[in-house]
Amino acid sequence: MIKTLHLAFILLSVISFVGRVILSETYPAILKQKIVNIAPHVINTFLIISGIALIFQGGWLSISYGWIIAKLLVLLIYIGLGIYVLKSQGTAKWLAFTGAMACLVYIGIVAVTKNAFFFF
Ligand code: HEM
Repeated sequence: MIKTLHLAFILLSVISFVGRVILSETYPAILKQKIVNIAPHVINTFLIISGIALIFQGGWLSISYGWIIAKLLVLLIYIGLGIYVLKSQGTAKWLAFTGAMACLVYIGIVAVTKNAFFFF
């Protein structure tokens, strides 16, 4: 149940991020609307809350938590890149966007494998 919610919030979070990137290229004026600014914060707060709930539900702190720390660190990078993407233009914007997408893929694989160094 909580995992389903977690997955739903991930989907909403990605849609809200990619949606804002598309709007920044097509109808940037819409980005100034209050709802467009607040909704992503609400979604991301619930995403983190559901993640924290899953940590306790699975008892992960006493099993293994290295992968959770990796997820959180890369989540911070993802957030930083996301902010940069929405504030910049040109090549730097798309490089940061690619980096943000790579962070998402990494976080997803780490979540499934429970291994921060799955690529070794
Ligand atoms: C963009 C952010 C995130 C993505 C893409 C993501 C991705 C995922 C995915 C795909 C799963 C399902 C794994 C499986 O079924 O084996 C999962 C589970 C989980 N996530 Fe996240 N997650 C994110 C954020 C977070 C955060 C912020 C936390 C902690 C605060 C967290 C903690 C967990 C935990 C504990 C599980 C459950 C593992 C289990 O019991 O099998 N996640 N996440």
